[in-house]
Amino acid sequence: MATIYVFTYFAVLPIFFLPVIGQLSPDFYDAVCPQALPTIKQTVEQAIALEPRMGASLVRLHFHDCFVNGCDGSILLDDTSTFTGEKTAGPNKNSVRGFDVIDQIKDAVNDVCSENVVSCADILAVAARDSVVALGGSSYDVLVGRRDSTTASKDAANTSIPSPFSDLSALVSNFESHGLALEDLVVLSGAHTLGFARCVSFRNRIYNETSTIDGDYAASLQAVCPPSGDDDNLSQLDDTPASFDTAYYQDLMGSMGLLHSDQQLFMGNGSAADELVQNYGGDPDAFSADFGAAMIKMGNISPLTGSDGEIRKNCRVVNSD
Ligand code: HEM
Ligand SMILES: *[C@@H]1O[C@H](CO)[C@@H](O)[C@H](O)[C@H]1NC(C)=O
Ligand SMILES: *[C@@H]1O[C@H](CO)[C@@H](O)[C@H](O)[C@H]1NC(C)=O
Ligand SMILES: *[C@@H]1O[C@H](CO)[C@@H](O)[C@H](O)[C@H]1NC(C)=O
Ligand SMILES: *[C@@H]1O[C@H](CO)[C@@H](O)[C@H](O)[C@H]1NC(C)=O
Repeated sequence: MATIYVFTYFAVLPIFFLPVIGQLSPDFYDAVCPQALPTIKQTVEQAIALEPRMGASLVRLHFHDCFVNGCDGSILLDDTSTFTGEKTAGPNKNSVRGFDVIDQIKDAVNDVCSENVVSCADILAVAARDSVVALGGSSYDVLVGRRDSTTASKDAANTSIPSPFSDLSALVSNFESHGLALEDLVVLSGAHTLGFARCVSFRNRIYNETSTIDGDYAASLQAVCPPSGDDDNLSQLDDTPASFDTAYYQDLMGSMGLLHSDQQLFMGNGSAADELVQNYGGDPDAFSADFGAAMIKMGNISPLTGSDGEIRKNCRVVNSD
């Protein structure tokens, strides 16, 4: 009995003294596994050194996790014969990537922590921040303490992640449905300063939007993305796809947004979105700082905390016990 009492006492005490319960904090792992965050950072840096695009892919994974029933690691669950996850939903299929790196990170933290304490949802949030920093963005205090879902929703992934074919009003409504404002939409879209898109994501724009796309730019894209076929051929989302810089906004001001949804943020008629784009295009420090703040806001979308959910042992599967 004494053993059980002592165990319970020490298990309950730290939870009892946590200043915030049900909320995320920057120092959640300081006591339980101080090596967790440095280990994630190191693994992210190694992955980006091997392939710079991986930073982009990791940032996007956190976004696609948070926009589907909150930042709960649901995007990482694999399909099985009895379980349908989110990986085959329209916005994710043949598109989201980086799952092997998440596995590597999970293995690495499970090695350095004495127990299985680091959630997959937190790994996504921290890996996104570390990717931004590795590619030249400013750091921010990522909040942690999320737990992992035991469910996923392909249907919600289909409907909750914004479409690249949407107009500004639909993008604004989508972000509002996640508690994010126009300012957040414009600054978070700045993540498209990193990475690539497939031909299928921008074909409509390069053949049909002659009034809002720079002619030479459209012609250069048509060379890699024919009117039909070659769906998976890639184009970079801005001029400098491995640098976290303001080229994305400058491209928008030059009618060289790759996706329809990108160019919707800058119409050149002095709208509120236009002004935000102009501001960020000329102010790298404001972009970097506001981006970090908006990522924290996005990372706060409906996390599981306390005793909700679980800490998955393997990010791809729900725990069996
Ligand atoms: C505003 C609405 C958004 C739409 C419609 C959108 C849509 C897309 C599309 C269609 C792609 C290319 C996918 C493909 O062709 O396979 C893409 C790539 C990407 N998105 Fe977004 N996105 C949006 C917002 C965001 C946000 C908020 C973030 C992160 C904070 C983000 C991060 C990225 C990154 C980094 C890539 C490149 C990924 C890679 O190269 O692997 N996007 N996005
Ligand atoms: C989600 O989208 C995919 C791909 O577009 C489609 O095949 C599937 O029927 C949709 N599934 C659900 C559950 O809405
Ligand atoms: C251009 O738009 C039309 C009408 O929306 C559509 O039918 C056609 O497939 C589009 N062309 C390309 C190459 O996407
Ligand atoms: C699309 O990509 C494939 C594979 O890299 C390449 O062989 C093909 O030429 C590309 N298509 C165009 C139109 O560039
Ligand atoms: C700018 O143009 C867009 C699309 O044409 C329109 O919806 C919006 O109302 C315009 N804004 C201003 C301030 O003129």
